Amino acid sequence: MKRIAVLTSGGDAPGMNAAIRAVVRGALYHDMKVFGIERGYEGLMNGDFKEMTVSSVSDIMQRGGTALKTARSKRFMTPEGFQRAADMLENFEIEGLVVIGGDGSYRGGLALSKIGKTVIGLPGTIDNDLAYTDYTIGFDTAVNTVLSAIGNIRDTSSSHERGTVIEVMGRNCGDIALYAGLTGGAESILIPEEPVDINKICRTLIRGKNRGKMHSVILRAEGVEMSAEELAKTITERTGIDIKIVVLGYIQRGGSPTARDRMLASRMGYKAVELLLQNGMTSKAVGIKGDEIVYYELEEALNMPRTHDKTIMDLAEILSR
Ligand code: F6P
Repeated sequence: MKRIAVLTSGGDAPGMNAAIRAVVRGALYHDMKVFGIERGYEGLMNGDFKEMTVSSVSDIMQRGGTALKTARSKRFMTPEGFQRAADMLENFEIEGLVVIGGDGSYRGGLALSKIGKTVIGLPGTIDNDLAYTDYTIGFDTAVNTVLSAIGNIRDTSSSHERGTVIEVMGRNCGDIALYAGLTGGAESILIPEEPVDINKICRTLIRGKNRGKMHSVILRAEGVEMSAEELAKTITERTGIDIKIVVLGYIQRGGSPTARDRMLASRMGYKAVELLLQNGMTSKAVGIKGDEIVYYELEEALNMPRTHDKTIMDLAEILSR
């Protein structure tokens, strides 16, 4: 394989730049030509290709976001869109495409592979919602951003003796809430994978108040059925505790990636190049299991059922008493 391309797609995630850098420099090291495609699949259909050099990826590893820009393309997700993208890869004589993104981006990659294109997926999303890999690129940074926010909110809510519902991202996956909840000492963690037990939340808050706790954090993942407003209102009605709401939003998607995310992205990016150098690697998804970089068929990876780690929730409950 002599000519490859890389794109980022869907929501950006800290560490995507480190992954781009690893793909570009890994490919150049192996004497391949490598193109960066701007604006994800939208740019692929439009022919937004630029040839990358060693210096194209200088000074990007420490930055959040993606130097290649990203997009969510509805136009691409049609048979005509897939064909147009495949034709554009032909025009530029691209033999292998590296897609850095989440499950929607992987579905696009799978569609391209079904019409004969070689695609390697790297999991770039803060959500950690791809079942085949223990961690996705960007998740660790997002969790650390949430932790820092919890610290700030605790300062002010202790002073006012309030509780706070903090809403975090993650789409239908509760991992950001779960990991930040355990490591940030949240009193209650609400995730889409488990039903809301409002009695338990109120019990926990009252117990804390009775032993002199001056604040409480209820961490709510965005996919939870009960809204932040409904939660705050119900808790105040039932406990008398004043509850504020903080929606952390897009600050979770930005910021300089942690060492852990840079490491993951660098290892996975280079693995993508190694896979492209092997014969018969038509469509693969790169992941991490334990400390080992692994890969699966893209379709197999997408079809794996996701389960959350219940032991983290149990531990958080024991330790936040
Ligand atoms: O997938 C990453 C993510 O930030 C989710 O956590 C969130 O639900 C979604 O993207 C927001 O998407 P958009 O950038 O389109 O508003």
